[in-house]
Amino acid sequence: MPNPIAYELAVMTLPYQQWHLDRPDASAVVAALEEGKILYLPRLSFILTPQEEALLDPVLLEPERKNISYRPDRDRLDGVAAPEQRPAARQLLQRYYQDCRALMASLLPAYLDACHSPAGTLRLHQVADWRARASWRKDDSRLHVDAFPSRPNRGERILRVFTNINPYGISRTWRIGEPFPPLAQRFLPRLRRYSPLASWWLNAVGITQTRRSRYDHLMLQLHDAMKADTDYQRDGPQLVMAFPPGSTWICFSDQTPHAAMDGQFLLEQTFMLPLSAMRDPRRAPLSVLQSLVHESLI
Ligand code: SIN
Ligand code: FE
Repeated sequence: MPNPIAYELAVMTLPYQQWHLDRPDASAVVAALEEGKILYLPRLSFILTPQEEALLDPVLLEPERKNISYRPDRDRLDGVAAPEQRPAARQLLQRYYQDCRALMASLLPAYLDACHSPAGTLRLHQVADWRARASWRKDDSRLHVDAFPSRPNRGERILRVFTNINPYGISRTWRIGEPFPPLAQRFLPRLRRYSPLASWWLNAVGITQTRRSRYDHLMLQLHDAMKADTDYQRDGPQLVMAFPPGSTWICFSDQTPHAAMDGQFLLEQTFMLPLSAMRDPRRAPLSVLQSLVHESLI
C-alpha cells in the first residue's frame, strides 16, 4: 500500500491566469519552491495558434525521438520530421520560452538573471506509449529525481515549467514523491562509491560533456536506485496529481520526486540555476547530500 503524502505539503496552488503579472503576491513562492513543493497554476493556460495546433501529432517527430526540442539561446530546433512544420514548432517553443521568462520575472525575480542554458521540449507521445517501450532506467513513469547522464551539472539546479496543452481534455497525471532530505537518507547507504577514474574515462570517450563530479555520480545513482526499487515505487511516500489541460506547474525536478503516469501533449521549459541565486541554498540536493556524507561533492 502506498504511503500517502498530504497535498498541502507537496503543492502550492497559485491563482494566476496571465504569464505577465502586475504585482503578484509572490512572497511565499520562492520558499515553497525551494522546499521542493510544486507550484501549481491551474488556470494558467498557453493558447496555441491554428498552425501550432496542427503540430499536435506524434507523426511529426523524427523516428525514435521522444520530443521536439529547442535551445532558445542558439535558436536550435531538433526532432521535427517535416521541414514545412519547422517554423511553427520554432515559433511555439520560442513563445513558450518567452512566457516562462515573463512568469519567472513575476514570481521568481531573483532567479531571472542567474538562470542559464534554457532548453524546451514539445512532448507529443502518449505517456502510455513510451512507458510500454522504455527500459527501467528510461522509464519516467517510475518515481525519480532528474539527473542528466551526459550533462554533469555539479550541483546546479534543474528548474522546470510544464504546461498541459492537450486539446481533448486529457490530464497529465503524475505521482509526486517525498521531500529530498528523507529520500536522500533512505537511498544513500545503497549508492555505489564514486570512481575518479571512471569519471575521467566517461569524459575522455565523449559519453559525458564534462567530467562527472561526486555530486553528479550520486544523483545518477539515486535516480537509478529509485527506479530500480519496485517496493519503493509501489509503497513509498507518494501523491497522485492530475494536471488538466490549461494548467501549468513548476518544480525543481532534481529535488522533487516525480513520475509521469498518463497524458499526451505537453510543453516543458528547463532552466539551469546556480545555487548562489537561491534564497536558501541549504535546501539544494548538493547541500543536503554534503551534510549527509560530511564531505564536499564538487
Ligand atoms: C519527467 O520529467 O520525468 C516526465 C514528465 C512528463 O513528461 O510529464
Ligand atoms: Fe523526470
